[in-house]
Amino acid sequence: MNKILIFIFLFLFSIQGLKSQSLISPSNEFELIFLMSDSGEPLYNLFYKGQEVIKPSSLGFEISTYFSGFSFTDNNFSSNFSSDFNVIEYTLDSYDETWFPVWGEESEIRNNYNELFVELEQEDTGRRLNIRFRLFDTGLGFRYEVPEQKALGHFIIKNELTEFTLTGDHMAIWIPGDYDSQEYDYNTTRLSEIGSTFDAAYTENVSQNSFSKTGVQTSLQMKSDDGIYINIHEAALVDYSTMHLNLDTENLTFTSWLTPDAFGNMAYMNAPCKTPWRTIIVSDDARDILASRITYNLNEPLAIDPSWIKPIKYIGVWWEMITGKSSWSYTDDFRSVQLGITDYTNAVRKENHAANNQNVKFHIDFAALHGFDAVLVEGWNIGWEDWFGNSKEYVFDFKTPYPDFDIKLLNDYAHDKGVELIMHHETSSSVRNYERHLEDAYSFMNKYGYNAVKSGYVGDIIPRGETHYGQYMINHYNYAIKKAAEYKIMINAHEAVRPTGIARTYPNLLANESARGTEYQAFGGSKPNHTTILPFTRQIGGPMDYTPGIFEMDISKLNPYNGSKVNTTLANQLGLYVVMYSPLQMAADLPENYLRFMDAFQFIKDVPLEWSKSIYLEAEPGEYITIARKDKNSDTWYIGNSNGYDERTSNISLDFLETNTTYNAIIYKDGNDANYSSNPQSYIIDSKFVNSNDTLIIKTVPAGGFAIQLLPLME
Ligand code: NOJ
Ligand code: CA
Repeated sequence: MNKILIFIFLFLFSIQGLKSQSLISPSNEFELIFLMSDSGEPLYNLFYKGQEVIKPSSLGFEISTYFSGFSFTDNNFSSNFSSDFNVIEYTLDSYDETWFPVWGEESEIRNNYNELFVELEQEDTGRRLNIRFRLFDTGLGFRYEVPEQKALGHFIIKNELTEFTLTGDHMAIWIPGDYDSQEYDYNTTRLSEIGSTFDAAYTENVSQNSFSKTGVQTSLQMKSDDGIYINIHEAALVDYSTMHLNLDTENLTFTSWLTPDAFGNMAYMNAPCKTPWRTIIVSDDARDILASRITYNLNEPLAIDPSWIKPIKYIGVWWEMITGKSSWSYTDDFRSVQLGITDYTNAVRKENHAANNQNVKFHIDFAALHGFDAVLVEGWNIGWEDWFGNSKEYVFDFKTPYPDFDIKLLNDYAHDKGVELIMHHETSSSVRNYERHLEDAYSFMNKYGYNAVKSGYVGDIIPRGETHYGQYMINHYNYAIKKAAEYKIMINAHEAVRPTGIARTYPNLLANESARGTEYQAFGGSKPNHTTILPFTRQIGGPMDYTPGIFEMDISKLNPYNGSKVNTTLANQLGLYVVMYSPLQMAADLPENYLRFMDAFQFIKDVPLEWSKSIYLEAEPGEYITIARKDKNSDTWYIGNSNGYDERTSNISLDFLETNTTYNAIIYKDGNDANYSSNPQSYIIDSKFVNSNDTLIIKTVPAGGFAIQLLPLME
């Protein structure tokens, strides 16, 4: 601590003329210094254990009131909202509470921070801008707040100028900055190499829109040469556009890069208002990044009655379409279809239309037999014949089934067996159409007893010119979640914006896809270390509907025309149920593939969906993750591992188990000859008695993994 103070004192001494205020984290490990430059620019500077992590970095905006030939305030409006400020007041505060998430990686979360609230006033314009900093034991969150004032009412954000100036050419794990898609493989390069490797990283997607060759998305995971892990993301993205980061390679400064609308405007504001939080999670131990709860803690508390929300383990009429074995659409008879005009009654049904009564019943039977909560059925409603790529506005009505899908019969059949069907709303990104139908579609779900919907946003957004991550769409996603809560509906949104902890407030948002999910294993494959990265990046904001559980890695076995390979071992697929936390977990493969490996399938049947405690045992982004979790509803522990490119041995001390208790450990691990590309289905299931004094030593192959169940024996 003294060392930190001396360092800071010397530092402040060297930048004369700046006014400053410091803030220390509850653990004393972090120090934030807020500074004012001579030209009245607000700056912040972050230290961790006495070491600078973020150099003095600017804060502020470029704003405007000029919209499409019309200025909604005065004509002499200054766009400068980043300098000429004076500090009116600093207010220090601290907070410590424990809250209880509806579902999650643990049953209680501590929210403990020290706060600095800075009130600024701009000299010439009299405009006021406040900045709120919260310093936790795992890092920093800050946001801008524009208070109600005479000097500023409606305004447009032309640019947010938040900087993150790094102290070295760190290693970064990044995906290309894009206004429409996060479905990319991750790249691991030096910051200085982002620009030269960007083009190769920018792989094709049906809707994509990059903005800069040095632009990347958040959550961005970095590591300095001296072993400091730094993660930048945002929390509580509400009524604002998504933040990307653009690198100035020379100065190693990232500047926030928001998502513009069709006019190039980043966000439309109306004081009093606030931005999302910008978060910087920091540690010298990668496991702390996974354990940090900054993102949830910076979101608003629960806003709804959650009594009806429950985690879901499901199978689906899905993988067969993703692999190309079956079809979402019903017929090839029509060049194009029009809802309300095209008559499907006499159309020739494709033999492989999967959402048919017989196939759905078969899945319901399988779900009931093996204890799954639900069955997802896609391709049940008319319109799939030209579902995306046609800029078609009235693409789905979300309530008219194809002739071979008897919605009442199937829901009754499922409910009789204690199974739910999961609704599917592919919007094809025709968002105005979806919003027009939304309440009818939710009522329709209530009528047949659906309690969850998977929504999807494939293709370019309509209204044309909008993108997936602009303010318009952020407001849409949040509207759909809130409305769903009114109808007691849980949501799993695909291709929507990556989450920012909103599920603390609206836990009916069970999961998102919003990254490269398992579907890409059927579209050419993902990098073998993909799931050793996702918990450090995509999952910083919330659960992912990753859809693990593929047992047949050779996709040509399902569809001879699809040569794709799933780039993991079977044991890795099991480990993902623990590594990739989600209250919504799919067993994504076809039932026929589970029937071939019933002993391994047992782990998927057993693994819980919510936990009372999580312990991050081993973690290095891009290399390996091992997590132990305790079931929320029993004393059984589970351990999961996902391994990256290199063969590895885990040494797991079981000292977290109850002492004086014997556990039966059932270990599902890679076979000695397992190989993710040539022999992925080689696995071993071991069983042995262990206690808290034991250490488990388990070998994993590249893209391998393991899953362990630790059942306490009755005394
Ligand atoms: C993309 C989604 O990620 C996938 O899960 C879904 O099956 C298709 N869109 C069709 O909606
Ligand atoms: Ca997708």
